[in-house]
Amino acid sequence: MKILVTGGAGFIGSNFVRYFLEQNPDDSIINLDKLTYAGNLDNIVDLKGNSRHQFVCGDISDQVLVDQLSAETDAIIHFAAETHVDRSIVNPEVFIQTNIYGTLVLLEASKKHCHRRFIHISTDEVYGSCPEGDFREENILTPSSPYSASKASSDLLVLSYYKTYGLPTIITRCSNNYGPYQFPEKLIPLMISNALEDKALPVYGDGLYIRDWLYVLDHCEAINQVFHRGEVGEIYNVGSENGKTNLDIVQFILNALGKPVSLIQHVKDRPGHDRRYAVNPEKIQKELGWKSVYSLESALEETIHWYCKHTDWWTRVKSGEYRQMYEKIYGVSL
Ligand code: NAD
Ligand code: DAU
Repeated sequence: MKILVTGGAGFIGSNFVRYFLEQNPDDSIINLDKLTYAGNLDNIVDLKGNSRHQFVCGDISDQVLVDQLSAETDAIIHFAAETHVDRSIVNPEVFIQTNIYGTLVLLEASKKHCHRRFIHISTDEVYGSCPEGDFREENILTPSSPYSASKASSDLLVLSYYKTYGLPTIITRCSNNYGPYQFPEKLIPLMISNALEDKALPVYGDGLYIRDWLYVLDHCEAINQVFHRGEVGEIYNVGSENGKTNLDIVQFILNALGKPVSLIQHVKDRPGHDRRYAVNPEKIQKELGWKSVYSLESALEETIHWYCKHTDWWTRVKSGEYRQMYEKIYGVSL
């Protein structure tokens, strides 16, 4: 099969493209990514010259381009999105454009070209904050931020294309990912890189907010299984049932790097900050046999080690220098 992957130069998308090509030697990928500030060809530089991977720099909202790429492919796995909650609070418009309108463009093209699968990568944030217990797939959506509201809207659009047109869609809703190539605006890579630079670690509010951390390769395997064996029209939660406070995570990082806790700086809280996320992954576990296999302690240590070894990568990403560099190296206009 030939698959159109969107957002495959971002954090999860780049890990997924590499993983999927390894796991599925008969399949190939067209990787459509706009290379926004979050997309980075460094993340997939090892795939340059791979005949089963074709990179296309473009926007998922570009109907003509998406139609052309959909005509050449059999399925879509859709990661591309604006993903940072803080940015959505400051500038929500682009979240509406990419996450909602962009998804609509992809759904239309997928319908027109009778695709065999449309996998929509969503998030646990669409359920909103979970004071106790955990959320199942049938829980109502109460998103808190413009980011999560735009993702919830795209989920509803995807469901409508299954119900109305019979498009073979599947939605996954995953908890917080961590691992290599995550943009250093997100908690874990920001804290690791700041600590390595002996800069302050900005912890929002009291730092007792809880997230369920999942190693990115666990997520990639979940999507791989959903793609091959998931039931169309369904939603699958993906999580590791491993809730930790932000302070737990930050202290773990400081300890692993041998840095002092005095680097922690409590700062103003995020508006509308969700206190706790928790999804119940029983459905994907029982129906598809998926289970997270990486332990938080060892995979987080590995991740810290990766950022220590790749200071060039995050220094370039943090400075924005990579944009000019890629224009020169790859001849791509960003
Ligand atoms: P990311 O921000 O690292 O990457 C997003 C990618 O999408 C970038 O490469 C960017 O260039 C591309 N992109 C953005 N707008 C585009 C457009 N208009 N056209 C084409 N490409 C565009 O994001 P991520 O953390 O890898 O998240 C990927 C997906 O997984 C998102 O849909 C996100 O909502 C979802 N998700 C993320 C997490 C997480 O913890 N990171 C958890 C659950 C779900
Ligand atoms: O839950 C899945 C979601 O996880 C994804 O859908 C989003 O795309 C992804 O960005 C992530 O959202 P969060 O808001 O949970 O992730 P973030 O890394 O921004 O923040 C994690 C927690 O850490 C959150 O409680 C806010 C806090 N935080 C974050 C930053 C960047 C801080 O305390 N300080 C910071 O500097």
